[in-house]
Amino acid sequence: MLIRPAHLTDASALPAIEKSAAQLFGTADGLAWLRDAPVIGPSDHARRILNHAVWVAEAADGALAAFISTEIFDSELHIWELSVHAQWQRRGIASLLIDSAYRYAVNRGLGALTLTTFSDVPWCAPAYAKRGFAPLLQPGKRLQDTLDAEAMQGLPPERRIAMRLPVGGLIPRR
Ligand SMILES: CC(C)(COP(=O)(O)OP(=O)(O)OC[C@H]1O[C@@H](n2cnc3c(N)ncnc32)[C@H](O)[C@@H]1OP(=O)(O)O)[C@@H](O)C(=O)NCCC(=O)NCCS
Repeated sequence: MLIRPAHLTDASALPAIEKSAAQLFGTADGLAWLRDAPVIGPSDHARRILNHAVWVAEAADGALAAFISTEIFDSELHIWELSVHAQWQRRGIASLLIDSAYRYAVNRGLGALTLTTFSDVPWCAPAYAKRGFAPLLQPGKRLQDTLDAEAMQGLPPERRIAMRLPVGGLIPRR
């Protein structure tokens, strides 16, 4: 599996990966509707790819298996989406993509990675916590705005949290 920065020509393949990844929510209490929720469109992917903030996992046959889409806000790199195609899950690919984003943040002199996620879904907050992300009890305006926007899109606010991983320390894995 090759992890590399996304090319502009990858943008059109990413929505199908997010859609496939989302099928996993069929197993999460009360979240099965996310299998049919809207995904990030090619133009938004293209914009972030042009900002050099998207990485993909490419299989040996050239097909894309996963992506991580990020954006810099001040001194922090926010992870907007991390999706691994259903056929490729549980093989450590998400971990490799987070590593790429982390290295980028180090190289850019950023202070942290941030994200919002489900607190109680096993492959969300608990998995990020294993990698050193900590829940933010006071998320600050940017992340609170993100949480509020997600609530307006129907995500249950009582199950959503913001998390932060300071850059510069170790990335705990297990
Ligand atoms: C979350 C997701 C990106 C993980 O991708 P992945 O490549 O399968 O993850 P990894 O193999 O790197 O696993 C990392 C850790 O995540 C957790 N994890 C991943 N899939 C899991 C699952 N189905 N059930 C429980 N824990 C899971 C585990 O802690 C795992 O570590 P382990 O294998 O040592 O137990 C993938 O399941 C996915 O695309 N899900 C749908 C979209 C999504 O939920 N994105 C993140 C939203 S915040």
